[in-house]
Amino acid sequence: MSELNPALDHPTYNYKIVRQFTIMTVVWGIVGMLVGVVIAAELIWPWLNFNQSWLTFGRLRPLHTNAVVFAFGGCALFATSYYVVQRTCQVRLISDKLAAITFWGWQLVIVAAAITLPLGITSSKEYAELEWPIDILIAFVFVIYGIVFFGTIVKRKTSHIYVANWFYGAFIVAVAVLHIVNSLAIPVSLTKSYSIYAGTVDAMVQWWYGHNAVGFFLTAGFLGMMYYFVPKQADRPVYSYRLSIVHFWALVAVYIWAGPHHLHYTALPDWAQSLGMVMSIILLAPSWGGMINGMMTLSGAWDKLRTDPILRFLVVSLSFYGMSTFEGPMMSIRTVNSLSHYTDWTIGHVHSGALGWVAMISMGAVYHLIPILYGKSQMYSIGLINIHFWMSTIGTVLYITSMWVNGILQGLMWRAYNQDGTLTYSFIESVIASYPGYMVRLAGGVIFFGGMLVMAYNVYMTVRKNFQAEPASTAA
Ligand code: HEM
Ligand code: HEM
Repeated sequence: MSELNPALDHPTYNYKIVRQFTIMTVVWGIVGMLVGVVIAAELIWPWLNFNQSWLTFGRLRPLHTNAVVFAFGGCALFATSYYVVQRTCQVRLISDKLAAITFWGWQLVIVAAAITLPLGITSSKEYAELEWPIDILIAFVFVIYGIVFFGTIVKRKTSHIYVANWFYGAFIVAVAVLHIVNSLAIPVSLTKSYSIYAGTVDAMVQWWYGHNAVGFFLTAGFLGMMYYFVPKQADRPVYSYRLSIVHFWALVAVYIWAGPHHLHYTALPDWAQSLGMVMSIILLAPSWGGMINGMMTLSGAWDKLRTDPILRFLVVSLSFYGMSTFEGPMMSIRTVNSLSHYTDWTIGHVHSGALGWVAMISMGAVYHLIPILYGKSQMYSIGLINIHFWMSTIGTVLYITSMWVNGILQGLMWRAYNQDGTLTYSFIESVIASYPGYMVRLAGGVIFFGGMLVMAYNVYMTVRKNFQAEPASTAA
């Protein structure tokens, strides 16, 4: 794919690596979301596993999370960070070879995950399921990634470091540290290892990792994307550069403490649970500061939303970011968590962040990048971007509303008591009551996934050698 048209290569920047990661973002997005649709269907019709162990919900669920978070989200982060660091530092990446190692290394990690997870080879730590040989490869790729990224910043031609790079930089350093500490394990064979931590300490380290995977992988990295692509697409400077710096330091300083909100009412000491809760509530402030900064960048240019579906992707993703970062602090309050924990409410929260924020901002960035990377004046069809935008928005809304209803329903059914102290509902009754919500979620998922296919078609038609775009139109 990178050899499509060598004449397009930029005289200064390494666009080949950006093209490679951008195309794989679309490919892995389709794979990961297809698996999401399959497991959503399995929760309605369990026989869809056809009695094959590798098709069971338990095996495919981690495949879905790894594919969407690390393959789709990861490739989007690699692509945009390599693009942004070059453009804002006005230099080429320090080494094309090292960058290529990160591309092939990361694809190897993904393929290894896609083989081992369905086989049931897992460390059983959520979002860190991969076994030790793959963990070592991940650590290796991230160290090289850090060398390429920070090396490029060191040799920059600009005097200052644009704020998007701060966010990308924090993401790279934090993810490397979190991954290495949480994955420390004693191998007993090539495919099995045991964590060096035990009991409550294991749980705490795991959720220190898990929450910060959200904070630095799914948030800080994508905020880097936001700080570059929103101003670019809106053709306006960032609303407040000062606020973006305050946003950065406040976010990284607070996020790292919030992990214990995943362990309310467990053996973790009470003070640690309270600390996690308080830090999570404080986290609302920097999160909303960032969201408002992104939104206000459109001041004086709101009319562009009427004609530019790419900008719509970016701005609506920011509103979902605002929504999930309001919901998260609420869910971290212990009394609220006693209702939401174990229910579909958590799944709804996850996907308002994952579909609404992470996926939609990535889609906006990919649509912005593809014409630039392939030397075209615009995407093949602006109308199709618009259709994709509506499919993503409607799909996300169906997904999250159905999960809110299910979550509250389940939480209330589980805690309902009769006068004699017995439970009012059996567990299976709450499962049966959840079916309508699962149907709506599946419909939302299929629509969202369909949007990815529309995107793939549009991208394919744009990168074809013989496609020449009309001068920029406003057909949206
Ligand atoms: C077509 C789109 C998607 C569908 C249909 C879908 C469906 C699902 C389903 C059915 C589950 C399991 C829920 C359960 O255990 O009850 C799940 C879990 C999850 N999905 Fe998705 N998903 C989609 C897209 C995404 C994307 C784009 C991301 C991330 C960027 C994502 C991240 C996750 C995560 C992190 C979990 C685990 C949640 C938890 O453990 O609380 N999903 N998804
Ligand atoms: C201020 C920001 C946020 C706070 C304070 C927060 C808080 C929370 C809380 C309290 C839970 C439920 C824990 C439980 O009951 O087990 C949760 C789960 C989760 N959140 Fe958030 N959230 C925030 C933002 C986000 C965003 C933006 C995303 C995604 C992009 C996200 C992804 C997740 C995931 C994947 C889980 C499920 C973890 C699991 O159990 O597997 N969160 N969050």
